[in-house]
Amino acid sequence: MPPLMKEKFMHKKITNTVTWTGKIDWELRRFHGDELSTHKGSSYNSYLINDKKTVLIDTVWAPFDKEFVSNLKKVINLKKIDYIIANHGEVDHSGALPALLREIPETPVYCTSNAIKSLRGQYHENWNFVPVKTGDTLEIGNNTLIFIEAPMLHWPDSMFTYMKGENILFSNDGFGQHLACDSLFNDTADENEIMLESLKYYANILAPFSPQVTRKIKELLGMNLPIEMICPSHGIIWRTSPEKIIEKYLSWADSYQENQISIIYDTMWNSTGKMAQAIADGIRLKDPFVTLKLFNCSKTDKSDIVTEIFKSRAVIVGSPTVNNGYLYSISGILELIKGLKLKNKKAVAFGSYGWSGESVKLINQELSQAGFLVVDDGFRTIWTPDEEIVEKLREFGKTLAEKLQ
Ligand code: FEO
Repeated sequence: MPPLMKEKFMHKKITNTVTWTGKIDWELRRFHGDELSTHKGSSYNSYLINDKKTVLIDTVWAPFDKEFVSNLKKVINLKKIDYIIANHGEVDHSGALPALLREIPETPVYCTSNAIKSLRGQYHENWNFVPVKTGDTLEIGNNTLIFIEAPMLHWPDSMFTYMKGENILFSNDGFGQHLACDSLFNDTADENEIMLESLKYYANILAPFSPQVTRKIKELLGMNLPIEMICPSHGIIWRTSPEKIIEKYLSWADSYQENQISIIYDTMWNSTGKMAQAIADGIRLKDPFVTLKLFNCSKTDKSDIVTEIFKSRAVIVGSPTVNNGYLYSISGILELIKGLKLKNKKAVAFGSYGWSGESVKLINQELSQAGFLVVDDGFRTIWTPDEEIVEKLREFGKTLAEKLQ
């Protein structure tokens, strides 16, 4: 590839003033350690603003720090960077700061006071931090930067930076998706894919903070700042109709549900699996319109299950009784959804057993503690369901179709 082409692909002009200087990570499949699946890769978006002052907003994940600094040098003399903005201290955005600041150690780093704590805690460096609060501004020439703290979106240290003039919101994790996309812009990418990944991102990362999301967006809209573009730190840039993703966030943050019931189960010798299918058949007989999905959670990616639960109006959770409890994969899902603080969802448990049979009661207790409205004591059956029990499970499913409305 000729050098000029290579250069073009490493950095992309967003506007006359803003250049994308991030990293598209096509190979990323797990994030936050092994916690979150990223089937379609991700990007770590960093932005260079060339106004009368030169500003760098965020960097990239630590494994790409040398590549980042080396590429950055090809578009700017690092000594010309007047300010660095760290919208968030997490390592996927701050990971190249040590390598960068080794070259330009005096450059001021603008961030929230909580970000100073997180950056110092992670890197043990006393960089030239400048703490900022909501409403603080930085004149950079034709544009002005306005800082907007965004605590718990999704860390206490998070903030947005708004560029008045070109009217761009640099929103960091907010409005992002784990999606590698060469075009970088929403209007040149697959819209369905973008929205699916945005929803997965919201469900898995931002859902616990929905009240803060609602408050922050209302505060942002109340500031009457025109938003012509949203530049998040992961995935595509919302270049056209950025209000669409803002509206989606308001909807997702407001006890979101679709007309979906998800049956989440695990099974050892398929007794509980057979129960899951019979309950589903009963629901379908009674409700021809509901979206009904079954997931064996020992065989399904947990981040995808969380996304499906987030979309559901009800979940039906099943496990056989093992060692007076329930199966390991069910335990993991119950723990995950407890942390998400989901609202406006109904639930019920089911499961087979051979001896003691506690799983149904225990799962119902966990679902209740996770904030779900448990609508029934559940259904448990000893050993393998025969045709008579299968018929009873279908009837149970029909009853649930009404109780889970
Ligand atoms: Fe993308 Fe919270 O880091």
